Amino acid sequence: MSWLDPSGNRRLLALAAAPLGALAAALVALLAARGGESPAASGAARRVVELADFEADSEAWRPNYPEHVAAWRRTADTADREDDRTHGPFTGSARRPRLAEFPGLARLYAGGPFADAWEEEAGHALALQRLVDSRRLGADKPAACAACKSSDVPRLLHRLGPEAFYAARVADLRTARDLAHPVGCADCHDAATGDLVLTRPWLLDALRARGLDPAGADRQQLRSWVCAQCHSEYRLRGVEKTIELPWGGGQRFEDLEAACDTEPNAEWQQPETETPLAKLDHPDFEAWSAGIHAAAGVACADCHMPRRRHGAARISEHEIRSPLADPERACGPCHEQPVEDLRAAVLETQQRTTALLARTARALDDALDAAVAARRRGAPDAALDGFRRLFRRAFLRWDFAFSENSRGFHAPQESVRLLAEALDFARQAELAAWAAGPAARP
Ligand code: HEC
Ligand code: HEC
Ligand code: HEC
Ligand code: HEC
Repeated sequence: MSWLDPSGNRRLLALAAAPLGALAAALVALLAARGGESPAASGAARRVVELADFEADSEAWRPNYPEHVAAWRRTADTADREDDRTHGPFTGSARRPRLAEFPGLARLYAGGPFADAWEEEAGHALALQRLVDSRRLGADKPAACAACKSSDVPRLLHRLGPEAFYAARVADLRTARDLAHPVGCADCHDAATGDLVLTRPWLLDALRARGLDPAGADRQQLRSWVCAQCHSEYRLRGVEKTIELPWGGGQRFEDLEAACDTEPNAEWQQPETETPLAKLDHPDFEAWSAGIHAAAGVACADCHMPRRRHGAARISEHEIRSPLADPERACGPCHEQPVEDLRAAVLETQQRTTALLARTARALDDALDAAVAARRRGAPDAALDGFRRLFRRAFLRWDFAFSENSRGFHAPQESVRLLAEALDFARQAELAAWAAGPAARP
């Protein structure tokens, strides 16, 4: 059955016949009609206690929003769910090392900060503990590392100002009990009004740099932008380690690559070949931006925080996790296929992406072999520059596709495009290494 089979999905087919602009407008209207009140208006807010400004302890919000806090709390349970159907086979929340997913990745990331401490990500309520436990950057982590791990950060940024925040160390903030709460309510909501709010200056700066006005954001934009605060590629600039989103030219892969090339940041060298490499952290927002759902006005929260009825109110799912936990609610409002077909559609995309990732990993490994062989037979170092340039192109494309967290679903065609290019660049790099003198290919 084709995905847009008329018998399977009349409503979406009708939508698909409309031009994209009209489609997006219709969808947003549809979403607004599904219930779009502010917390205060939705009946979900019960003003039992007055919350302090920037209240970082999500438990303190419980008297006013018991359902939301209970759901948020469950994001800490995700670690137990490895073999059930609350996520796909390529995601989940266990402390699984990501470099074990394909052969050769330890070599590929060797020398960089992700070499021995990169795990599958878990739920929001575990974020701070995961950071504190992480071997990456050892015991002396700068405060910037905590910037996306804690609901204390909006308050700290406000109280200390960005400069002093960036100058601080995670360990000192922990000792002073200033950094004690994982990602929670205050990361996305204003304590006084309950409204959605953008709390991270780097996102505000990045939006303004692109001519967008964060203060004029509509509701549907905010339902993705609150996530973009953390689920984006970022860089640490200068000695202050100021966080910046490199969206100067836009947020396509090529814009991120240009930022890596023009202003190298957090780079390392692949040790066997001295190839300068960089990491694209977790470009979920950028990947989503390149996909059909973003083009149709579908927000992160539509799939990851679907609404459900609770008494007289409609509330958004605050146990933020994989949409595969409940495709009926996550996809069902827009797609009428049976749940099994929805699940199968996601899996098919993920399997295709995984097969291409495996081929690309192998091609990158072969290219490294060829460069090592060139060195061994005495090729002059400069003769490997062509290899290095091509290998870096291949690696960044691979890394984008591997690091966005949906294994290709957020933008299936974009992932396939990048991996096709990565494969080609990797094989070109291999040829360049074989051609690097002095002797010809054996
Ligand atoms: C059209 C639905 C849809 C939209 C919109 C969407 N996602 Fe996803 N997302 C998915 C699916 C499906 C998966 C794969 C889940 C799985 O494999 O279990 C996923 C996976 C993820 C994961 C990994 C989940 C895990 O369990 O490891 C993260 C993180 C994520 N998305 C963040 C985002 C962010 C941030 C946005 C917006 C910028 C977004 N998503 C927009 C459907 C969506
Ligand atoms: C303040 C930062 C921050 C914000 C805002 C944020 N996230 Fe996250 N998110 C994280 C971090 C950090 C993790 C990984 C936690 C870990 O493994 O330590 C994560 C993990 C996730 C996961 C994986 C959960 C799992 O069980 O594997 C999903 C899905 C997700 N986020 C979706 C979203 C969506 C959707 C939004 C917007 C509505 C959002 N996040 C906003 C920081 C944030
Ligand atoms: C990662 C971002 C994020 C976090 C963390 C978060 N929320 Fe939300 N919240 C949202 C989004 C997105 C909506 C939907 C808003 C909309 O559609 O206008 C929402 C909606 C709400 C609403 C309005 C009613 C509803 O359910 O749609 C309430 C009340 C609420 N959140 C309370 C909380 C509380 C309490 C916490 C902490 C336990 C919390 N939220 C944590 C993003 C977040
Ligand atoms: C808020 C509405 C909405 C939600 C929620 C939503 N979708 Fe979609 N989906 C759309 C629209 C609109 C399109 C684009 C249709 C078109 O223009 O061809 C689309 C397209 C698709 C396509 C076809 C992609 C392509 O490249 O042709 C698939 C597959 C899909 N969605 C799966 C899902 C799954 C799985 C979920 C849940 C995890 C989901 N969608 C959630 C509205 C939604």
